[in-house]
Amino acid sequence: MFKKRNLWLVPFLFLSLVLAGCGGGTETSSEGDSSSDNGGSNDGKTYNLKAGHSLPENHPYQLALVELAEKVEERTEGQVKIEVFPLSQLGAERELTEALTLGTADLSISSTAPIANFYPQIGIVDLPFLFESREHAFNVLDGEVGQELLAGLEDVGIVGVEWGENGFRHITNSTHPITKPEDLKGVKIRTQENPIHLDAFTALGAQPTPMAWNEALTALQQGVVDAQENPIVVADTYKLHDANQKYMTLTGHLFSPAVLMFSKTVWDSFPADIQEILLEEGKAAMQLERELSVKADEDSLQIVKDNGIEVIEEVDVAPFREAIQSVYEKYEGEFGKDKIEAILNTK
Ligand code: PAF
Repeated sequence: MFKKRNLWLVPFLFLSLVLAGCGGGTETSSEGDSSSDNGGSNDGKTYNLKAGHSLPENHPYQLALVELAEKVEERTEGQVKIEVFPLSQLGAERELTEALTLGTADLSISSTAPIANFYPQIGIVDLPFLFESREHAFNVLDGEVGQELLAGLEDVGIVGVEWGENGFRHITNSTHPITKPEDLKGVKIRTQENPIHLDAFTALGAQPTPMAWNEALTALQQGVVDAQENPIVVADTYKLHDANQKYMTLTGHLFSPAVLMFSKTVWDSFPADIQEILLEEGKAAMQLERELSVKADEDSLQIVKDNGIEVIEEVDVAPFREAIQSVYEKYEGEFGKDKIEAILNTK
């Protein structure tokens, strides 16, 4: 049962249930004929699009999508309108990504981890301790490897417009401070629905359970899991101190890249001039998202502390990195040892 202090979750859960009953709320709303390519000419049709993501209204994903909506409506003189749905209202990340591949959703921003269920190659950026810094991550994502990955999304029915981010991921839990891998032994931790994350936490000795974020909140609340891992901004904006989380260890074990994506079916229904505007404004909105994300990370650290979460800031990550080496060995065949090394050596 919900405790009174968690009543803020009720509207969100209610909405998720209603939309789940409607098939996930992922029906495309573009009024243009998305079933056939119109050959690039603009016949003045209007397009009403729905953009979904899993974070609250004050998160950079939302702010970037709102910016995109405003700019696109202005530049197309009202021909393209984008309505933004936060909090997994159109489905959690995995479900919404699947809807993009099927052409039953229009666009979204999602972290990469669940995308790997449909496009395994993108999993390479979800290897733990792959990126040392944001600068390192974006040198890779904006470089050849990242651009190839974005382009490859087309093979699964998605147009990858631009990379953004959600910061480095850290562990929170309800029971004790975690300072070394041994402290994770037997800890029931929710992970994203991604085999690499699952393998990494298994290698660290924890008991990982992959689940969608909207289920994770209830699981933390009800003590089904004791721990989770996410960027600081998620702990702050989702008020994880109200979901039993008492300790946060700044392991930074994963950088969380995000992608602005359109369904290719929907994208192909746009005339060429609209595609160009969406591409330009999408790229600009994700540059904004990156800037906002850096600021949000800094602000959120103080907020989670003020909300009573004990933050372990000085962490020796070497033993954590050591403990997950088997994950690199497991995936080097799939992603290519040379490619992984090229990423690690990019500065
Ligand atoms: O943990 C997750 O599932 C993701 O980090 C989240 C919170 C949905 C944001 O992308």
